[in-house]
Amino acid sequence: MNYYVMTLFPEMIEDGMNTSITGRAIARELIHLEAVNIRDYTTEKHGKVDDYPYGGGAGMVMQAQPVYDCYKAIEEKMNSKPRVIYLTPQGSTFAQPMAKELAQEENLVFLCGHYEGIDERVLEEIVTDYVSIGDYVLTGGELPAMVMMDAISRLVPGVLNNDMSAETESFSGNLLEHPQYSRPEIWNDKAVPKILLSGDHKKVDEYRRQESIRRTYERRPDLFEKAVESGEITEKEKKVFE
Ligand code: ADE
Repeated sequence: MNYYVMTLFPEMIEDGMNTSITGRAIARELIHLEAVNIRDYTTEKHGKVDDYPYGGGAGMVMQAQPVYDCYKAIEEKMNSKPRVIYLTPQGSTFAQPMAKELAQEENLVFLCGHYEGIDERVLEEIVTDYVSIGDYVLTGGELPAMVMMDAISRLVPGVLNNDMSAETESFSGNLLEHPQYSRPEIWNDKAVPKILLSGDHKKVDEYRRQESIRRTYERRPDLFEKAVESGEITEKEKKVFE
């Protein structure tokens, strides 16, 4: 997986991504990351990358020229045109199915905007996907790009340890993950559910499934309904909550 991030703040991307599991994946060369500074591509002699919006209004707009030349320099390294993801609250909402789909790509280019946005003409020219990470407005596209790269990276083979499965966790389907416990057996007068200490794997699996279903029902009724519709939860399992 090769990530190219077009940004005015490359150090933000590098600092964030070179930490923890993604950092280890980069060190092990399972993931390749280049944070490319859009400012390095401006032809303006003072390094300017933005200007006032035509038609007036607040804020500044990132200009087409440095973004386009930055993109062209990245594209040159590839044999085919890559997916170019522009992070914007106006995009489709990112979720696990999109992470799975994007994890199949060899190259992904992320375009991070700032100020009041980017000149529409260069977006029309290079962007293939408009993606939002949720209905709120951030100061730039860097955090959303990192959110996406984190979610995609853990689906790249080898990035997680064998004992950390990418598939069995929350949102592989519509069910939330069951609660987890570790030592000690009693903490703050609270005991670990007895069944987890029984060594009976079949009983443990049944218990965990029950707790997954309960948690989904209580915390995400919208997902609970989807899970019933898709057959992930049986009618019998649903009855318990009626
Ligand atoms: N840029 C600003 N806010 C954003 C959001 N919610 N998702 C993606 N990009 C953004």
